[in-house]
Amino acid sequence: MLERFLKAEAMALWTVRSAQLQNVPPNVYTFLRKHEEDEQKHLAQFESLIGRQPRERDRLPSVPRQWPALAVQIYGYESLGLEFARLLLTLRPDLASILEDEVVHVGFFEREVRRILCGSSEGAEQARASARAWWRRLPRTVDRYVEAPVLDPFRQSLTTHMLEAIERRFVTTGLLDKKATLKG
Ligand SMILES: [Fe+2]
Repeated sequence: MLERFLKAEAMALWTVRSAQLQNVPPNVYTFLRKHEEDEQKHLAQFESLIGRQPRERDRLPSVPRQWPALAVQIYGYESLGLEFARLLLTLRPDLASILEDEVVHVGFFEREVRRILCGSSEGAEQARASARAWWRRLPRTVDRYVEAPVLDPFRQSLTTHMLEAIERRFVTTGLLDKKATLKG
């Protein structure tokens, strides 16, 4: 189970690193620096818990160049991280600080996404299109995170729970239409 989190956190860290290389608003850049430190700390905590390191990547994941699309992508991954952190807390109450950090991360990107949606119609449309594309890929992403055999008995309910939580969040923020998600 912890290994799943390690993988998710490593992914979050690489995305954040990669995002810093893109053209992002200055306040976002400052936040990403702090964000990277947090994720690095979480990763170190997991590493000491399970006694090994995640596989290193020689290339950073590619991220969208356009800020509205990038913001949505980070917002999505952070929302997913937050749900995993909530779950983790039920197993390891001592790791509560991770959940607190994730709440801050999600809150920051949620404000940025709302700002984009209130801004130019071009940026807002880009963000919505990116959200729909990310949403369509989400079931496969979640599958990868919960593929460990130890999760067999919970996989179905876990996946449903994750997808519903993200859908609620995206619909509330205004990124997705309720109708669009029903089509799958
Ligand atoms: Fe995070």
